[in-house]
Amino acid sequence: MKVTVCIGSACHLKGSRTVVDKLKSLVAENNLSDKVGINGTFCLGKCVEGVCVTVDEVVHSVCADSVEDFFQSEIASKLS
Ligand code: FES
Repeated sequence: MKVTVCIGSACHLKGSRTVVDKLKSLVAENNLSDKVGINGTFCLGKCVEGVCVTVDEVVHSVCADSVEDFFQSEIASKLS
């Protein structure tokens, strides 16, 4: 599964750094490192919806507080 987090300036200001860090820890804690790749990407053109995170090309809007829910519903549950 390919997960990309927008690190363009608008999403950066909304906390994309935190989103990346939290996603990386969640992936590691759940032993999914060999199944999930997390990368950064430049502006996805949906700045108002940031922080933009794509999961297999589908764009989601995530914020620092919703990372865990997002991880459970869009990543973990789809791999089990
Ligand atoms: S900066 Fe993230 S969508 Fe534009």
